[in-house]
Amino acid sequence: MATPRHNILVLNGPNLNMLGVREPQVYGFHTLADIEADCQEYAEELGFAVDFRQTNSEGELVTLIQQARGACSGLVINAGAYTHTSIAIHDALKILEVPIIEVHLSNPQAREAFRHTSYISPVAKGTICGFGGHGYILALNALRSLLEG
Ligand code: DQA
Repeated sequence: MATPRHNILVLNGPNLNMLGVREPQVYGFHTLADIEADCQEYAEELGFAVDFRQTNSEGELVTLIQQARGACSGLVINAGAYTHTSIAIHDALKILEVPIIEVHLSNPQAREAFRHTSYISPVAKGTICGFGGHGYILALNALRSLLEG
């Protein structure tokens, strides 16, 4: 591939490594590897390079966000359950000076009340939820518009 126009970091939080077997009635049958493959294919069309990561650890998410400073021009994040609990991830995202797109496979607003609060939304440019794995593609497309007009 020619030199990518933008490096995009895609971060996935806890339990997203279990997609495909985890509550498929909520999250579908696609695995995280399927979603990554779709993202890599679409990123290539856009001329973007995608670094696609998953970790179950809150601290590692904070470290990856810190390391993204100066290294990427946009961030897509599905923080999983940490969305609803993590002030540490909120604070780390606040330091990042690139557009942040929050993604959820399901629509947390249509689920249990404890999923209605997001610590990511206040620091995100926007949120895409309820479209399954396709939400990641929509997020990359949103970054394309934001970064290239
Ligand atoms: C999720 C929604 C969260 O409430 C949940 O804890 C997840 C997945 C989603 O992608 O729909 O782990 O972020």
